[in-house]
Amino acid sequence: MADQNQDKITIPLLQARKTVGPRIVCLTAYDHPTAKILDERGVDLILVGDSLGMVVLGYENTVPVTMEDMLHHTRAVSRGVRRALVVGDMPYFSFHLSREETVRNASRFLKEAGAAAVKIEGASAKRLKLVEALVEAEIPVLGHVGLTPQSIHRLGRFRVEGKAIDGALKIIDDAANLERAGAFAVVLECVPVEVADKVTRALRVPTIGIGAGPRCDGQILVFHDMMGYSTGFFPRFVKKYARLHETMGRAVAAYAVDVRKGSFPDAATSYHLKPEVASELGKRGRKK
Ligand code: KIV
Repeated sequence: MADQNQDKITIPLLQARKTVGPRIVCLTAYDHPTAKILDERGVDLILVGDSLGMVVLGYENTVPVTMEDMLHHTRAVSRGVRRALVVGDMPYFSFHLSREETVRNASRFLKEAGAAAVKIEGASAKRLKLVEALVEAEIPVLGHVGLTPQSIHRLGRFRVEGKAIDGALKIIDDAANLERAGAFAVVLECVPVEVADKVTRALRVPTIGIGAGPRCDGQILVFHDMMGYSTGFFPRFVKKYARLHETMGRAVAAYAVDVRKGSFPDAATSYHLKPEVASELGKRGRKK
């Protein structure tokens, strides 16, 4: 019997891309129809990011996102994916209390939501121990250094990390420590090109950049940002490939005009009785 999973993206396949290419294409998704589009168009890794909180749930930052939010959306994404590797993002406070709770929460992405791996922000000594525990429990981990949005209240604002020498060296160390702890790849968010380049050349595992320049082994963007679906402030690294907010806004306005003037629904978008039933109904239907 033919192996239906033969073109399925696996972690070893992604890791091999570091040496043989091509670059790893990643995007976020939070729902089934979007996941289907990404998968059909050959996106290699789909991250159900906790950016969900900002671009879909309307929160100001990612801190309020819960495990239940993440599992709900990861399930919807997984149901739309055949080929890509689905990664679930560990939300704030799902990995902060104990090693046991971290492993239990992470395992839910694999057991209940169809993900193949989890992403976890940060690389403190305590975080590295958690990465080791997850890998030990057969849960592949995507690391995440540079700007870590869950630290918003400590950082005060989102900004480029590693611009001064100490910060740059810390990012390089953090990424190397994550590799040593067993991460299968590392996201570099909002760091200077030169730092991302140094990390990419130092690591054996792939780097996935977002706002980290062109020299990473792969790239990721938030779907709603690159589609011009979300609104508000966009950092310079967001390239917009569509203007969905405007396109959808125009469609909604056209619908409203049609409804108000009575041109929708029309005959073509309505159901009709057969003439004989319509005539009978005319005779027997209750009169006003
Ligand atoms: O939550 C998210 O979407 C992310 C990506 C920006 C890497 O962490």
